[in-house]
Amino acid sequence: MIKLTEKYIKIDTTKNTLLLEKYGDRVLQLYYGKKLHDSDNYGFFAVEERDKWFGSNDDHTNIPTVFSCNGECANKEAYVILSKEDGTFTSRFEFKGAEMAEGFSSPLPTARNKGETVRLCFTDLVTGATVYQYYTVFEDCACITVHSEVVNNSGEQLFVKRLMSCQLDFAAEKASVTTYDGTWDLERLRHDTELTAGRFEIDSKLGISSANHNPFFMVKTDNTVMGFNLVWSGNHKETVEISPYERMRILTGLNDYGFNYKLNAGETFVSPEAVFVAADTEGEVSREMHKFSLKHVVNPNFAYKPRPVLINNWEATYFDFTGDKIYEIAKKAKECGIEMMVLDDGWFGARNNDRAGLGDWYDNVEKTGGLKSLSDKIHELGLKFGLWVEPEMIQVDSDLYRAHPEYAMQIPGLTPIERRHQLCVDMCNPELRQYLTDTLIKLFKDLGVDYVKWDHNRAMSDVYSSCEAYQGNYFYDYYVNQYKMLKDITEAVPDVLFESCASGGSRYDLGMQYFMPQNWCSDNTNAFARLFIQEGTLAGYPVSSLGAHVPNHWERPGVSWESRFNVSAMGAFGYECDITSVDRKTISVIKKQVAYFKKHRNVFQYVEYYRLGESLCKSDLGGWSFVSEDKKEAIAVIIDKKVNNFWFKRPRFTFAGLNPDYLYKVEMRPQSNLPESKVFSFTAYGDALMNGKLDFDNLYWHETDGHDMGSVFASRMFYIKKIGR
Ligand code: DGJ
Repeated sequence: MIKLTEKYIKIDTTKNTLLLEKYGDRVLQLYYGKKLHDSDNYGFFAVEERDKWFGSNDDHTNIPTVFSCNGECANKEAYVILSKEDGTFTSRFEFKGAEMAEGFSSPLPTARNKGETVRLCFTDLVTGATVYQYYTVFEDCACITVHSEVVNNSGEQLFVKRLMSCQLDFAAEKASVTTYDGTWDLERLRHDTELTAGRFEIDSKLGISSANHNPFFMVKTDNTVMGFNLVWSGNHKETVEISPYERMRILTGLNDYGFNYKLNAGETFVSPEAVFVAADTEGEVSREMHKFSLKHVVNPNFAYKPRPVLINNWEATYFDFTGDKIYEIAKKAKECGIEMMVLDDGWFGARNNDRAGLGDWYDNVEKTGGLKSLSDKIHELGLKFGLWVEPEMIQVDSDLYRAHPEYAMQIPGLTPIERRHQLCVDMCNPELRQYLTDTLIKLFKDLGVDYVKWDHNRAMSDVYSSCEAYQGNYFYDYYVNQYKMLKDITEAVPDVLFESCASGGSRYDLGMQYFMPQNWCSDNTNAFARLFIQEGTLAGYPVSSLGAHVPNHWERPGVSWESRFNVSAMGAFGYECDITSVDRKTISVIKKQVAYFKKHRNVFQYVEYYRLGESLCKSDLGGWSFVSEDKKEAIAVIIDKKVNNFWFKRPRFTFAGLNPDYLYKVEMRPQSNLPESKVFSFTAYGDALMNGKLDFDNLYWHETDGHDMGSVFASRMFYIKKIGR
C-alpha cells in the first residue's frame, strides 16, 4: 500500500515501511525498516542534520535522501550522472512531485504481478532532462522494487554516465556487509566485511552478473538486516559507504564501467529494477527474496510446478559419447526412477571437443545416430528429453562463423581474444538474433524437447558491435536484445523448462531467472564444496531454482553416495554420473534415493528455507531445513564437518522453522552406509525441536564408509511430519 500526503510518501509492504518526506527540492528518507502505523506527523524522526552546521569544505549531503547527483558538494557516490555533449557533468535536480503510476514500461524484465507504484519526478536545471524514480510494492511480499528512467526532453543529445537503481541513506556509524563472491567452481561463497569509514564496493565488469560477485548482498545495521538484488544479468555495481559524518549510503544498479549511454533528444533510458527488503534476521531476508523470485520473477507456468529428477551425461562422458551410449544411460536411469535424460554439450556440428562447432546448431548425425530418433526413443522409455545449447557463443571453426564472421563480438581490424576457444556473439545484430531465434525454436519443436540447458561459457572482451551507432551503449543493449530473444524463444515453446548455466553458476541472477526457472549452480559437484556454494546461493535464490546433481568422479575419497544425495537433494535435483558403469549395490542406493526424493518432492522444492545454526563457512556443525508453508512437513539435513568429533564430541543440533505447537514425527532417512539400528525416529513438539539441543549421537561413528576418518563430512537427512497438536 502506498500513501501520498502533502508532506509524506509512505510505502508499506507486508512487513516494512519506507517513509519519504517531500522536502523542498529533495526527497528525504525518514525511515526504512519494520512496518509503521500511519500518522500525520513524523517530525520526530532524526533528520537533525538539516539544521546542523557543516564545514564548508565538507560533504554537504548529510541528509538521508533517495536520489543524488553530481554537483551537490557531495563526497558520497551519486545515484545519477548525466553529461552534455560539451562534457558538463554536474546537475541541479529539483523534485517536482510524486504521483501514483499505472505501472511503467521497460525494455528489461521487471517484476510480475505488481501492486501499487509511485513515481517521483525530478528535473535537471542543467541538462533539461527529467528523471522518474519508481517504487513498487506487492500484496504478498515484503520486498519493494525501485528503478529510474531518464527522459531526454532537453532537445539535445545527452549521455547517461550513470543511473543506479536503488539508493538508501541511513545514519550509521558502522555496518556489516555480506556478499557472495567466488570464482568458476566456487561460486557465491559468503564473505562478511565490517565497515566503519569509507566505501565498500563489489561489481562485475565481465558482461555477465558473474561468479566473482553476485548482485545479491545483505547489509546489517544495529538490529536490522537488509537484502538487495537486481533483476538484471549484466555488469552491476553495489556500494555501501559510510561517511565521516556517519551517514551510510547503499547504492545498487548498473555498473558505470564501460558505460556511457548516448541518449538522443526524445529518448528514454531505463535502469534495471532493484529489489530490497528489511528483516530481523538473515533467514527472513532469504525467505522474502525467495518469495519475490517465485511470485514475481519466475515464469508462473513453472513457479510451483514439480521439477523432474534428471540425469545429465556431461560428467559421465564429456564429448565422448554416441547416441547408443546416451540411450544406455537413459535406460538405466529409467530403471532407477529418474525422469529426464539431458544430453549435454557435443551433439552438434563438428563439436567433438571444445575447439569447434559453437554456432552450428544442427545434429551431428554420425555421432548421435539422429537426434530425433534418440529423442523419440528416450520419450518411448517414458523419460523426458533435455538438450544443452550455448547460443550466445560462436567459434571461428564453425560453419556459422565462416559464413558470418560479423556475428561475432569483435573490434574491426583486431584479432579478438578467445576464451575456451570461443567468441561471444554480437547480440545487437538483428540478423543473428533472428537466425538464433528461428533455428532454436525449430530445433526444440522438432525434437520435442522438454528441457533446455542454456549455457554461457566465457566473459566478454572485444566489446563492439557494428550494429550499434555508439559503443558506450553496448553493455546495456546486449541484454535488451538478449532478453528480447529469450522472451521470443521461451514464449514459442511455453512448456519447455529452461535452466540457465554459465560455466556452472556465473550468471545466477534474477534477470535470467525471469526466463529460466532453474540455474545450474556450479561445475563443482563435489558435495563438500557444494555445502558452501549452495548455502551462499540459497541466501538469495529459491530452493527450486538450484541445480544440484550427484556426481560420481568429482568427489574426494570419503564422501559417501548418501552424503552426495543429502547435499544434492534440493530443488532441481539430478545425477551427473555414468550409471551404466556403477555397481549393482550403488544402483540400488540410487533407486532408493530417487524414490525418497519423489515421495517428498514438494518438500524438497517449494518450501521455506531455514539455515540450521551458523553458516557452514564459519562453523563445523550446521545444515538446512526446508519447511512447507503450512509447517506440516519439513526435510532437515544436518552436517558435521569436524572429523575430530569422531573422538570426543557428540554434535548437538536444533531444528528451525517449525510450528512450536505442533507435535511432529521425526524420521531419519535410512542410509546404506548406516546399520539399521542407527536409523531412528521419535516424536516431539515443535517447541522442543526448535529450542532444545538435540543429541544425534556421533555422526561419523556409525558410517560404515566414514569412520576410517577419510570422510570429509558426515550428514543425515530427516523427514519431519506433523502428527498432531
Ligand atoms: C559448462 C557447464 O557448467 C557444464 O555443466 C557443461 O554443460 C559444460 N559447460 C559443457 O561445455
